[in-house]
Formats: sequence, C-alpha cells, structure tokens
Amino acid sequence: MRRLPPSEARGLRTGARHSLAEVYRPADLVVLGFGVMIGAGIFSIAGRQAATTAGPGVILSFMIAGIACLLACLCYAELASTMPASGSAYTFTYVIFGEVWAWIIGWALILELQFAAAVVARAWAAITVGAVTAFGVRVPNPELVGDVLVLVILLTLTGIVALGARVGLRALWIMVSAKLVAVGAVIVVGLTQVDVANIGEFYVPPRSLPTPPATVLEIVVGESQAFGWFGIFAAASAIAFAYIGFDVVATAAEETVNASEAVPRGMIRSLVLTTVIYLAVALVMVGMVSYTRISVEAPLSSAFRTAGVDWMVHVIDVGAVLGLTTVILVLIVGQTRVLFSMARDGLIPRGLASVSRRYHTPTRVTLLIGFVAILLAEFVPVLTMQEFVVIGALFAFLFVSAGVIVMRRRMPGLERGFRVPLSPVLPALSLVATLWLMVNLRVQTWAWFVLWMAFGLLVYLVYGRRHSVLARPRDPVEPSRGRHRR
Ligand code: ALA
Repeated sequence: MRRLPPSEARGLRTGARHSLAEVYRPADLVVLGFGVMIGAGIFSIAGRQAATTAGPGVILSFMIAGIACLLACLCYAELASTMPASGSAYTFTYVIFGEVWAWIIGWALILELQFAAAVVARAWAAITVGAVTAFGVRVPNPELVGDVLVLVILLTLTGIVALGARVGLRALWIMVSAKLVAVGAVIVVGLTQVDVANIGEFYVPPRSLPTPPATVLEIVVGESQAFGWFGIFAAASAIAFAYIGFDVVATAAEETVNASEAVPRGMIRSLVLTTVIYLAVALVMVGMVSYTRISVEAPLSSAFRTAGVDWMVHVIDVGAVLGLTTVILVLIVGQTRVLFSMARDGLIPRGLASVSRRYHTPTRVTLLIGFVAILLAEFVPVLTMQEFVVIGALFAFLFVSAGVIVMRRRMPGLERGFRVPLSPVLPALSLVATLWLMVNLRVQTWAWFVLWMAFGLLVYLVYGRRHSVLARPRDPVEPSRGRHRR
C-alpha cells in the first residue's frame, strides 16, 4: 500500500542517470498518436465486424468505441498533466492507489503493449507477403518468409528505438505522412464508389447464432447473438483494438517539452482526428459493398476490387505495411517507457532503468522488449490473441478513470494542466463504458487474464515488494545534472 508522493512521480529522485532527454513537441505527440492507433485495426476490423456482428451499424460501433476511449483519454489527460511520467497509468496508480495496484497495472500494460507489438508484427508479415504477391512476385514458402519478416521488422524497429528518440521520430513522421496519404485515398476514392443502398439497411435485425455463448455478456444472456443493437454494441469492444495506443502517448510525457499542457492536447487531438478518420473509413467500407458480401479476410482490398478500382489494392497494401510499421515502433517505445519506470522504482531489476549515455535511451530494456516480442511473435499464435491486448488496456482505463475521482478528492489543490470537465460525472461514465467493453470480451480471455495477473502478483511478492525503492532507506540522491535537452 506504499504510495509514491506526486512530487516524485517523475522519478527524478534517482538522479540524472535515470532521466530521459526532452525531444517531443506538441505536433510530435499527434504523430505518435496517429502512428500507434491507425494500423491493423482500421484495415480489417471495420469490414470484419460489419460482416459478422454489426452490419452497416458498424459505423455506430466505431462511434461508441470512440466515445468510450475519448472518456478514458480525458482521464489520462488530466493525470498526465499532473504527473507527466514515463510510466503513465502505472505511475498514476502508484501515486493514487499504492504500490501493489501500480504493479498490477504495470503488469496489465505489459500484456497490452508487449503482446500488441507481437500481434501487429505478425499481421505486418502477413500483409507484406500479400502485398508482394499482389505485385505479381511469387513467394515460394510464405510461412517461412513470414517468420523471417517478423524477425527482420522487430530487429530493425528495436534497433531504431534503441538508437535514440530522434531517429525514431524522424522515421515516424515520414511513415505516418505516407500512411495518412494512403488512408486519405481510401476515403476519397472509396466515397466515389459508395452506393447508399448498401447502408440503407442500416439496422440488421438480431440473429441467434448456433455457436455456444463465448463472451461474458452472452453467457449472462444465455445465447450467442449477432446484429441488432446487441451486435452494434458488442462490435465496439473488438473495435477498441483499433483505438489502442492513444494511451501510449502519455508514456512520452517525460520526454515532452512543457508536458503538462502538451500531452493532454496531443492525446485528445490525435484521438479525435483518428475517430473521424475511422468513421470515414467505416462509412466507405459498408457503403461500397453490402455487409453480406464483405470478404472477412481482406475487406477493403476486395471491396475496391469488386468496384473495379484495382490499383487501390496496392495503395492499401503500401499504406497497411507502413501503417503497421509505425504501430509496432510506437508500441515498442511505449513499452520501454513503462518498464523503464518500473525498473527505476525498483519493482523490476534497477539495472534495466539505466539510460545509455551515448543514445540517451533506456537501451537495455529496449533490447529486452525486442527480444520478448520476437519470441512471442515467432512461437505463440498471437494473431488469435488480440483480445488480450484489449483487456490489458481496458483494465488500465478503469484505474485511470477511478484515479481522477480519487485524486480530485485527495489532492484538490494539485496543479493540473488539464481538468476533465464535469468531474466526477465523466470519469464515472468512463468507468461504466470501459466495464461495458470488458463484459463483451470472451470468457476465455478473462480466464487467461486472471492467470496472467495472478502470476504477476506472485512476481511482485517474490521480487518487487522487497526491492522497491520505497522499501529501502532512501539512497543518497545523485547530484542532478539537469535534464538533457537535445
Ligand atoms: N490500434 C492499433 C492497430 O489497430 C493497435 O493496429
């Protein structure tokens, strides 16, 4: 139950050795947000959810997921403005609820970010093989090539992250710009192909499915259902995957100039703009083909093929390859910052918090994360595990939403660069919306999640509890040499 004092949330207590360079400006944060959010989700989820769960109502599902995420984003923004720390939700929880809860959130964030990097790397390899094939090149052994590509992309991106935030940032700006051009083309060209009749049957009557109930909600209801209002709301949980990543922007806080104002703005702007882009793509998706004829495997590409605009398939492929590259890049950055914070607090070996004097990045922890991502992507069927990523993120949203309410009561006078309007109503709504998304996840996901968390708790009891910086008499603080500004 030890709590970190808010004044120490940034970790400067451990001296300059553990502090990061300030590199991000407000526009960089929006690019980070675009970089991590727009990826596998938008290129496939809209079509898949329309075909299987929501029909053309998937547009509403995107709105529902977007509103739920925006509510959580406002809560993140307030806490990040008060505690602009690399650990994001982990550090907020450390200050507000205490060490064991912070560990639990840190462990959930590992599930979210580490798994997401592996999932997206796998999807990236599959899309790259598909893109090359679409250009007429015969790929002899796609599985083996996929395995090699996973290794290549993860090694390259881990290297970029380890070499310094500036290198990654430049690469990010270029790739995000190209990806936005591709998504823009999907929207503009797609809108010319929309047939309003396809959206006309906006509401599809509910249908009972022959499959056994799988989500928590279906088990409560007693049957598997799709379409109707049930489906529209249920699809929102799967769609949450596409929004995942706005929370990663908060992990850049410690490296952001004037963070307490820039981070809230960057997070909110990137999420709102991304929501608009998603709604437009969803509209194009269900407007171009009837939901009954959407190809679940490659929804957007096949819609353009059906419409006779074959060249768009290449634009989508290139956009998806670049898009997923930036998602992995920013996920690795976010994951390094969370683990770095946990190491700095002593909850995992403190050696992992060391910052390279040459590159000004937490190199050791970056290499560790890259290595684990490679193992997961190569040896675990991660493509079936998207829900893990979602449950990890949503669990953190719960604590962040509750954290705003508790923090307002406990420390009303704390300086806040951003305040959630209508608190405690909006944070409470964020809690309810997040819980709703969580009950739409599969029971199997919950079971694995509980096991993962129980294992994490064990790790804490064996290691973190004793090695925590707060458990020991204070180290003499190293003389601070100030923060690097590059
Ligand atoms: N939001 C990210 C994606 O859709 C994880 O790929």
